This record gives sequence, C-alpha cells and structure tokens, in this order.
Amino acid sequence: MKKRSKTLLLAGGIAASLLVWAGLDSQLTVREYTIESGKVDGPVRLALLTDLHCCYYGEGQRELLDAVAAQQPDLVVLSGDIVDDETRMPEERALATVEALAEQWPVYYVTGNHEFWSGRVDEIKAELRQCGAVILEGESALVTAAGQTIQICGVDDPNVGERAWQAQLETVTAALEEDVFSVLLTHRPERVEDYTGRGFDLVLAGHAHGGQWRLPGLINGLIAPNQGIFPQYAGGEYDLEGTTLIVSRGLARESTRVPRFYNPRLLVIIELT
Ligand SMILES: [Fe+2]
Repeated sequence: MKKRSKTLLLAGGIAASLLVWAGLDSQLTVREYTIESGKVDGPVRLALLTDLHCCYYGEGQRELLDAVAAQQPDLVVLSGDIVDDETRMPEERALATVEALAEQWPVYYVTGNHEFWSGRVDEIKAELRQCGAVILEGESALVTAAGQTIQICGVDDPNVGERAWQAQLETVTAALEEDVFSVLLTHRPERVEDYTGRGFDLVLAGHAHGGQWRLPGLINGLIAPNQGIFPQYAGGEYDLEGTTLIVSRGLARESTRVPRFYNPRLLVIIELT
C-alpha cells in the first residue's frame, strides 16, 4: 500500500473512532423547554426525571441531585421506571434519590412498566410515598408553585390493566379545572391518541429511552419499546392538537446492556411562562 493511502486509512480510522467515542458519551445533559400559556402568570419550573432504573449517579446520587438543584425547579415530577425490576439494580439508589428530592421540592410520581414487572408495585409505591413522593394513580392535585396554581394529573402505567388505565385517564380528565394549567404525568409516550383532545395543556412521558441510538438531525432514535423501529415519539416536543407532549430520553445507563449512542442521559426542565 502506498504511503498516501496508509495515511488516509489511518486518518479515517482515527476520525471514525472519535465519532464512536463521542457518541458513547452518555454524560448527564439538561434539556430545557419553554411553554407559553395564558393560564400561567410568570415562570414555573418543572424538573422531569424519568427512567432512572436505579442507575448510579455518584455517591449518594450527588451528580443527579446537584444537576436538579442547579436548575432551581419549583417542583419535581417523576414519570415512571424510577425503580427497575432486575435485582442487580439496587433499589436503594432510587429511594435515596426520591427522598433527597422530596426534602427540597414537592415530588409527584407515576409508575412505569418496570415497577409493575417487579411484581412488587404496591410495595414500591408505599416506599416512595414514605420517601415523600405523592403517588398519582388516576388522581390529580392542585399545586401552588412559584405563586401559581397548576394541576398535576397522573396515571399508572398501562400494566395496571387496560380497562383500569382507561378509567384512570377518564377520572383525571373529568377532574380538569378550567383556566388552570394542567399537566398529565404518564409513562407512555406512544399512547398519543388517548391523550389528544382531552384538554390537557401538557403531557409528560418517558419510556422510550430516546430510541437508544440516535444520529442527531438524521435519526431521532433507532428502537423503542411499544413503538418499534424508528419510533416517532422517542424524545422531544410534539403538538397533539393543542396539547403539548414532551418526551424525555430519560436517565438510564447501565440498566440497559446496549449502550446509548448520541443519546446522553437527560434531565428535562420545563419552564411554564
Ligand atoms: Fe418504561
């Protein structure tokens, strides 16, 4: 091989390695969304944490807790899969995270599929309640934060049973207060048809893990549970005929054996203004 070809091959190899290395960097990242609404009179900041799956964020989960604190949220919402069903993932990490969050902010939680798959969903709910989280299972709460009242509604993961899930959705829809900004907290992003036209201002979801592998600007996720290949709702902001859906790519890393690619772990901040 000529010297020039060898140099080109080497340069190409180095460039490819750098691209792969950069893609595998799953450092915690903050993504902020702003939602403007006539129902809110000044900024209210929500921190959305989802799909933690008991993953490690340093001693005492400090990295994650510090990242949340740096964003100065008014309240924290957890949209499921905070606890993992695999026993290799230590549940204490999830509990310690929620307990520390609840010491500083109001915390609202809904289940994900993994809490149900653990076979101990009621026990997990009780533990999280003990940690200070408000568990929403087909319920809504009027919350005062930053001097504003907003309505936080929440439904369990559909693993609760399809009929029970639909009933929970109907209950929170019926409880919507006119002229109060409403948030539906749910695990599943793919149930868009169920969320559309109900009058929620904002729907917050997780579950898709960003489609695990991404190529920013080209592919917004390769595969996601319940959506399959090239998932439409892998992560980002979507308009559901007047309702905004925000899907977080979540906080999981080592709970999933396939590494994330151009898909850093995500803390989502939503500023209502
Ligand atoms: Fe999930």
